[in-house]
Amino acid sequence: MRTFAVFLGLFACVAASASAQEMTWRKDIQPIVAAKCGGCHGASQPEFAEWNVRRVTDKNLAPRVDTYPLFMNDVVWPETGALIRRRR
Ligand code: HEC
Repeated sequence: MRTFAVFLGLFACVAASASAQEMTWRKDIQPIVAAKCGGCHGASQPEFAEWNVRRVTDKNLAPRVDTYPLFMNDVVWPETGALIRRRR
C-alpha cells in the first residue's frame, strides 16, 4: 500500500510538470550547455568522430557539444552514453 502511495505521488508530480510546460532544447537546455560546457566544447572544437581519433595524442581536446544534434550524439545515438560516462 505504501509503495502504491509513493508511486501515485511520483506519477502526480510527473503528470503535473509535463502538463505545466514543454521543455525545449533552445529554451531550457542550450543555455545551460553554453554556460557550463561552452568554454571547452564550443564551435571551434572537432565533432565526435574526429575528436575520437585526435584525442589519442591530445588529452586536452574536447568534442563539440554546442548544438542539439551534436549534444544528442553523445546522449542517445550513435555515441550512446558518452555524456553519462563523462559525468560520473
Ligand atoms: C574545463 C573544460 C571542460 C568543461 C567545462 C566541460 N568539459 Fe567535457 N570534456 C573536456 C575534455 C578535455 C574532454 C576530453 C578528455 C576527456 O574525456 O577527459 C571532455 C569530454 C567530454 C565528453 C566525451 C566523453 C566520452 O568519453 O566520450 C562529453 C560527452 C563531454 N565532455 C560533455 C561535457 C558536458 C555536457 C559539459 C558541461 C556540463 C562538459 N563536458 C564540460 C573538457 C571540458
